[in-house]
Amino acid sequence: MEPVATPAPAGALVVAVDGPGGSGKSTVAREVARRRGLRYLDTGAMYRAVTYLVLDSRVDVEDAEAVAEVADRAVLTIRTDPGQPGILADAVSVDEQIRTRAVTNAVSAVAAVPAVRRKLVAQQQRIIADSLADGGIVVEGRDIGAVVAPEAQVKVFLTASTEVRALRRSQQLGEKGMDDVARTLAELDRRDALDSGRAADPLAVADGAVVLDSTGLAVDQVVEPILALCREALAATR
Ligand code: DC
Repeated sequence: MEPVATPAPAGALVVAVDGPGGSGKSTVAREVARRRGLRYLDTGAMYRAVTYLVLDSRVDVEDAEAVAEVADRAVLTIRTDPGQPGILADAVSVDEQIRTRAVTNAVSAVAAVPAVRRKLVAQQQRIIADSLADGGIVVEGRDIGAVVAPEAQVKVFLTASTEVRALRRSQQLGEKGMDDVARTLAELDRRDALDSGRAADPLAVADGAVVLDSTGLAVDQVVEPILALCREALAATR
């Protein structure tokens, strides 16, 4: 997809945080936003919300044309307060519905449809442009540094071992048994392969991105180096 560059005005900061599921993106991106007083956008929640609408309207997730129609009609409203992020689909809050296993296992198919990506990327770019007057934004996803905000002054690619990512995802889902973790690991592997292998805007390390491996690190040990990159980026614009 053709990137639309929106240069940030002096003092405003756009931070792109990309990486696979369970790499700790949400926790880290929200914390960076909170500590720097920036807005926060979870683009995965947008793909999940469209997927929820697709499943809710009993459309086959493999039917790209029908999925694109659902996305075209969908009205997504996103709250970008890092202290209380949230998403509404057609004016209904869907924060819980988008985290179910059914949505998680169907979202890669929906996110691979080019028309869905075009619509959501355009909305993400509007949200980023609107945030600049407020000081900027931290945006997390898969294609932020490469496609959505290639002009971001800070680009991070967050990763972690598959085992650690599966454990984190399992804990988020409230699971306890090792069978659950093994199943979550298999589902993560499948989703990684789909997200990295798709033709449209695949998960990849963007040009200029700093790769951070969060395996074995506490949240602060990942947040601090990103805050240092933010300080450097702002100092460079002065
Ligand atoms: O980060 P997450 O697990 O909530 O993302 C859900 C799915 O959405 C993920 O499987 C890939 C897709 N996604 C994407 O294709 N592009 C983004 N910018 C964000 C998420």
